[in-house]
Amino acid sequence: MKFFIDTANLDEIAEAQALGILDGVTTNPSLMAKEGITGEQNILNHYVKICEIVDGDVSAEVISTDFEGMVKEGEALAALHPQIVVKLPLIADGIKACKYFSDKGIRTNVTLVFSAGQALLAAKAGATYVSPFLGRLDDISTDGLNLIAEIRQIYDNYQFNTQILAASIRHTMHVIDCAKLGSDVMTGPLKSITGLLKHPLTDIGLAKFLEDYKKGN
Ligand code: E4P
Repeated sequence: MKFFIDTANLDEIAEAQALGILDGVTTNPSLMAKEGITGEQNILNHYVKICEIVDGDVSAEVISTDFEGMVKEGEALAALHPQIVVKLPLIADGIKACKYFSDKGIRTNVTLVFSAGQALLAAKAGATYVSPFLGRLDDISTDGLNLIAEIRQIYDNYQFNTQILAASIRHTMHVIDCAKLGSDVMTGPLKSITGLLKHPLTDIGLAKFLEDYKKGN
């Protein structure tokens, strides 16, 4: 299972990268705005900075909602750095753009996916990654994990190569449940990754080992 971090914060990306388990980064316009990154050139520069920190795929989202705009923006994003994956919204023009990029060998991440049918369309269009937003489904009392399971079954039935990128992860249990369901990738905040480290018995056990060592040394 690949681990992506869902942030545009360079310190958090560096912290996750330093752990040695990071496979990539996902961003979106809200995450860029949260870091105060505004203006076209600043945004492009920020993507390059992210690529220089992480050793893996970096999803950069288009703002356009029409096919021509998405193609123009996506080509500029892909040309920025070999690690860039063009992130496209799951709307009709996004699916068209996904097919266009996939025919050209440009990698894509189809985002804002909330149903199995949408995920099927993304795979048909040759998406590299599909991003079902499980946390946002949970937020409206719908079972986000069930969507991951449905997509896994559909993709396995037809051997689609599109990777399931479980997005909108909120906590460590989402990560563990997605791993059980066979999600190819997870993307979440830093705490959903570092939280996996924690267990009180580890801390108690380590303290005891060190205490016993000190007694004889
Ligand atoms: C995915 O790529 C999105 O950036 C993200 O996971 C959305 O998560 P949120 O629902 O926490 O905003």
